[in-house]
Amino acid sequence: MITITVNGQERRFEGDEDTPLLWALREDLGLTGTKFGCGAGLCGACTVHVDGEAMRACQIPVNMAQGRSITTIEGLTPAEGLHAVQAAWVAAQVPQCGYCQPGMIMAVAALLKGNPRPDTAAIHAGVTNLCRCGTYPRIVAAIGQLVKPA
Ligand code: FES
Ligand code: FES
Repeated sequence: MITITVNGQERRFEGDEDTPLLWALREDLGLTGTKFGCGAGLCGACTVHVDGEAMRACQIPVNMAQGRSITTIEGLTPAEGLHAVQAAWVAAQVPQCGYCQPGMIMAVAALLKGNPRPDTAAIHAGVTNLCRCGTYPRIVAAIGQLVKPA
């Protein structure tokens, strides 16, 4: 049994310690906002924050999450209202099917926390998530709303 901190709460995980964090979150802890896409570290649908850094949960064994602070889309969302990135997503009407969007929002939230004024190159470098619906122009528009004026 190992203990991981998820969204500010200590949670127990009783399964195989090599289980990808993604499955521990979804199957064992019921946090289904983090999505399974490729399982190969490519699509970013499973993006969570590990100690504030955006990481692909399908690529992290749950034992590596021990002692670190994990935030999922459920934890990013305030008890009331929306996180600023979520509000910008609504204003820019970003999602189509929506499947990739939790991971996309987690990636953007981490990017902006580290760099409040990313240029286009920094956005492309920081947000490598894939969207089958092709919402990229709206994602860029939403990020534009969030970039603070110099
Ligand atoms: S499911 Fe993790 S990167 Fe695609
Ligand atoms: S909104 Fe459908 S995959 Fe991105």
